[in-house]
Amino acid sequence: MVRFSVKKGLVVAVLALESLYLLAALKKLADLEEECEGKNEETPPDDRNAKNEPWPPIYIITPTYKRTTQIADMTRMSQTLMHVPNLHWIVVEDALKTSDVVRELLVRSGIPFTHLCAVMPDEYKEKPMMGKGVFNRREGIRWLRENAREGVLYFADDDNSYDIRLFEQMRSTKKVSVFPVGMILSLGISSPVIRDGKVVGFHDGFQGGRKFAVDMAGFAVNLRVLHANPDATIPLRLSYLEDGFLRHLRIELDDLEPLAWGCTQVLVWHTKTHKPGTPKMEHVTHADFDTNLVDLYRNILR
Ligand code: UGA
Ligand code: MN
Repeated sequence: MVRFSVKKGLVVAVLALESLYLLAALKKLADLEEECEGKNEETPPDDRNAKNEPWPPIYIITPTYKRTTQIADMTRMSQTLMHVPNLHWIVVEDALKTSDVVRELLVRSGIPFTHLCAVMPDEYKEKPMMGKGVFNRREGIRWLRENAREGVLYFADDDNSYDIRLFEQMRSTKKVSVFPVGMILSLGISSPVIRDGKVVGFHDGFQGGRKFAVDMAGFAVNLRVLHANPDATIPLRLSYLEDGFLRHLRIELDDLEPLAWGCTQVLVWHTKTHKPGTPKMEHVTHADFDTNLVDLYRNILR
């Protein structure tokens, strides 16, 4: 009799343990499922829409310069931006005057745009360690200060690749938003480091004493912050353009708003277009003077 109840007790204990184990396994599975759903979530709907308030505009400043790959890069970029509503594209050529090819591309895109130019003054040309696209970005900022009150500013180089979800996310920028940039420097990624929802530092292949170790493509700024700092500008020193500009805006690490699902995903890539050979009219031989090649070269050399 005693032997029977010990046996029964053992069976009950084993069964109870198994049930507990099963319950724990089910809970773990449910948690995992929730996590996956969170990761695949789309940009949350903008609740300004529900209140019928218009979306704030996004002002994109793109510095660009004449080179063999320019029109390929700018075509890809324009056809990305064509998918983004309420956007104003400020394209600033690094040149003494704006070009027809860029203007025609802008008109074709149907995107509201401002087409400007600004060239690096001669006295800087010989200086070492000069950043690229500084004076044309500055010209874009000057235009914004004079012409736009509300909205969000983003510096978008002409050769990067952009996921259009990034633009929707950056509309909610209150001061300065930050996000990862893929395919960059030695680490292959540059990202803010987030702990408990706050930016606590930067994971970037080049620190160099920078307070904000970010790429130009890794942040967006609310125009209120730009207007509150009328002297803020892009400094000249190579690799310190972003850090210098953000310091001028007098913001702190604590003010930074992480996007891209808490900086867990990449929505912009620092792609670089392979430089091909240089097309020249001399490549057309005498025997081909009466063919399409003359017009083709004329068009690509404009
Ligand atoms: C990196 C950063 O991502 C840039 O934001 C930064 O301006 C640049 O370094 C720098 O060296 O200061 P990276 O891919 O090396 O970018 O540079 P590019 O893509 O060649 O140039 C950045 C932007 O400036 C492009 O939109 C480009 O069209 C423009 N640019 C470049 C000019 O307007 N003029 C130039 O002479 C060269
Ligand atoms: Mn680039």
